[in-house]
Amino acid sequence: MLPRSLVLLQLLLLLSSASAWKKDEFRNCDQTPFCKRARSRPPHSLPSFSVADVSLSDGSLSALLLPPSSHPLHQVVDSASHSDSPDSPRPLLLRLSALHGGILRLEIDELETASGSRRRFRVPDVLLPDVDDRLRLRLPRLGSPAPGLSTFPISPGFEAALRHDPFELVVRRSPSGDPVLSFNSLGLFDFETLRPKRHGDGDGDGDGDGDGEWAERFRSHTDSRPRGPQSVSFDVSFHGADFVYGVPEHALSSSLALRPTRGPGVDSSEPYRLFNLDVFEYLADSPFGLYGSVPFMLAHGAGASSSGFFWLNAAEMQIDVLAPSSAGRVDTLWMCEAGVVDAFFFVGPGPKDVLAQYASVTGAPAMPQQFALAYHQCRWNYRDEEDVAAVDAGFDEHDIPYDVLWLDIEHTDGRRYFTWDRALFPHPEQMQQRLAAKGRHMVTIVDPHIKRDDSYYIHKEATENGYYVKDASGNDFEGWCWPGSSSYPDILNPEIREWWADKFSLQSYKGSTPSLYIWNDMNEPSVFNGPEVTMPRDAIHYGNVEHREVHNAYGYYFHMATSDGLLKRGDGKDRPFVLSRAFFAGSQRYGAVWTGDNTADWDHLRASVPMLLNLGLTGLTFSGADVGGFFGNPEPELLVRWYQLGAFYPFFRGHAHLDTKRREPWLFGEKNTALIREAVHLRYSLLPYFYTLFREASVSGVPVMRPLWLEFPDDKETFNNGEAFMVGPSLLVQGIYQEREKSVSVYLPGEQSWYSLRDGVAYGGSASHKLDVREDSIPSFQRAGTIIPRKDRFRRSSTQMVNDPYTLVIALNSSLAAEGELYVDDGKSYDFEQGAFIHRRFVFADKKLTSVNLAPANSGAKKFSSDCVVERIIVLGLPAGAKKAVIEPGNREAEIEIGPLNLRAGSSPVAPTIRKPNVRIADDWTLRIL
Ligand code: NOJ
Repeated sequence: MLPRSLVLLQLLLLLSSASAWKKDEFRNCDQTPFCKRARSRPPHSLPSFSVADVSLSDGSLSALLLPPSSHPLHQVVDSASHSDSPDSPRPLLLRLSALHGGILRLEIDELETASGSRRRFRVPDVLLPDVDDRLRLRLPRLGSPAPGLSTFPISPGFEAALRHDPFELVVRRSPSGDPVLSFNSLGLFDFETLRPKRHGDGDGDGDGDGDGEWAERFRSHTDSRPRGPQSVSFDVSFHGADFVYGVPEHALSSSLALRPTRGPGVDSSEPYRLFNLDVFEYLADSPFGLYGSVPFMLAHGAGASSSGFFWLNAAEMQIDVLAPSSAGRVDTLWMCEAGVVDAFFFVGPGPKDVLAQYASVTGAPAMPQQFALAYHQCRWNYRDEEDVAAVDAGFDEHDIPYDVLWLDIEHTDGRRYFTWDRALFPHPEQMQQRLAAKGRHMVTIVDPHIKRDDSYYIHKEATENGYYVKDASGNDFEGWCWPGSSSYPDILNPEIREWWADKFSLQSYKGSTPSLYIWNDMNEPSVFNGPEVTMPRDAIHYGNVEHREVHNAYGYYFHMATSDGLLKRGDGKDRPFVLSRAFFAGSQRYGAVWTGDNTADWDHLRASVPMLLNLGLTGLTFSGADVGGFFGNPEPELLVRWYQLGAFYPFFRGHAHLDTKRREPWLFGEKNTALIREAVHLRYSLLPYFYTLFREASVSGVPVMRPLWLEFPDDKETFNNGEAFMVGPSLLVQGIYQEREKSVSVYLPGEQSWYSLRDGVAYGGSASHKLDVREDSIPSFQRAGTIIPRKDRFRRSSTQMVNDPYTLVIALNSSLAAEGELYVDDGKSYDFEQGAFIHRRFVFADKKLTSVNLAPANSGAKKFSSDCVVERIIVLGLPAGAKKAVIEPGNREAEIEIGPLNLRAGSSPVAPTIRKPNVRIADDWTLRIL
């Protein structure tokens, strides 16, 4: 008999070769009745809905939305409905509310029928719990400036205008009346109301023609669709916009903005699909849906103004971006299989305003643990404890810092999560403690598919308590995944989430220690033998919710429950770290995400940047792509380039498929080891800057990794640049995406110049520069007018750098001024919420550097202190002649000399450097240059 591990390996190889990505395994729009139907209608081809009975109710506008009487899909057959005659159209209920900060909320749902028939599903737990109480502005009155038009103010300078017949909603500037966003301007709004099955409602033949589609077939799967068609679709127009962004997750290697999917002059493509799927070997450029979905789109245009639209709906969604019919306007068509309209219009007007508006509704990203921003080393799989020890030692031997070692599915006893293969990992606690002694952490994988094995405690408890998702016949749903036959916790149920969360306690999760954190994978959910490799849509969740209604949020709930588990484990004092593959709007509150199973090729390296930028724009700033590429074996040059780029990803992790050759950073010869070491060192030196940016994200919703246009919103050159990006407001990075590239053209926006991180050479702004490509780094620049905090002493892990001194790098602008921030706290707990942090602004002007306290006085009950000092201050752009600096208080002097820009071996002295100013970061001080 073959050993078990070999059998497993064979099975895996079989699976991988059998399932290399095949388009046919996934539905396209034509095979999806609601999509095909909605897409086939030209603008203004349907008789339109109209608005009636407008009134003010509890401070919001409420009205009836009347379908046109001739509409074929809205004939009432339910005699218990509100309508008098069985043939009259069934009205919908419309509610409009203004929310604080420039947000309009539109809700459209069915009226409850007298028979009390089932309500449509609204996704709970995604909006911040108090959105309605906290944000809703109670309107005192409605305006009616013209017959058939109702208006009310949203925020200063913006109002909502509801046209009654035909129904159209416009968010516009006031008093000019210029539209910003509009809904149903193309008359494509449609809403299939729930109805009993009629005589003649056929079982679909899977051709997607929409003729009486009730049951529906796709490949060998039948979706019983007992509730019939219930889709919703509409058009949204973004006025004053040149480009739209967001609605991840899609692989985008050729464009940062969403390319039009149809219309004149456009190569028609599939719409952007939002349906969380485990897509094996995904293409680097495609509108097909990947692992996560955020139905939030941003628009930006030449007037430097932005707007946004978010549809809270977790059913399958398809979105068309139409080719522009006129300049400065982008029309989009949104189509969804089920649910209601619960939509938010964000007025901006600046791009960062839109991000703040979205964050006020779905939450800002959680403040991560500090160690989680450092480098993570993963592979499927580190085999056993010896392997872990050897990899750990390898980093030390090669002087490469890292913080986290990851264990993939093979560490478990037969893919039973929360267990260990005790033959391979006999001493998991000691293994973690050995890492912890160097300030390092471990992450283990916990997936949602639970092995159906009566002797496995998780399965036993879940079965006994009825905690699994049910199939259409009411039995525990069974699907095939890594452990073989599996079932899936019904994580929509709060009680089951509690149960799941408790599994992470140190008592329950045997072999875990407080330095162990978690990776949630396969939570789309992935079901190898399910339709499109996921759960059937007619599976049933808590509250009689069909899987189709909640599909895109399954992974979100799983991430939430796991994160709550770690929070509980640490008694609410330890910030969770959970990486999730599937995500939804709001996932930013629970942890990090990554772009799944990419491939070790140059196109995927390139795609990582637009993908991560679009994730960041939709709240998911703590994101990264597998460095090196998951599938395949990268050439050393590609691997090095990937480390050089990945060092700037918000989440920085190397990972590889089971079948790939080992690729720890020192396995490619000394030269490549040195190049990777340098990239990782750069990341470690920038950790204080990254941490400060994560703080900013957690307060404002502005991502760490940003498209250039977020910082330069009036520079058209930047709007579709997906090759370069900003890290915060101060760093610009340009990837190298081709083998043996000799030179690269880099566009540097803005009036100010930019200093190369490598050698401090200044380049002018608002210009493209053709630069020679170097082996040792990718082009990266500090913007003149900024100050970046660094830590330049290299240790084994970021934890060991906590007490190290800082370097400040000041890049002076043309007025010889600069500004920057530093945020520091204990990196771990929630004491910062009670004021335990240091937050400084450094301001350089008139040859004087001042450290200003940004923490509000009496900001809370707790204090954080640090004895860390600034050991070097580099001043790029300082006119010659400066000799020394005088520090107050204390009237101390520090020498100025020309020093190296960074501590890399062989760095030549190029930068005026104030040596040993030794001012404490916690204190107020000034430093004058003489
Ligand atoms: C799929 C994940 O995307 C990948 O990162 C992981 O290594 C494998 N599952 C095995 O767990």
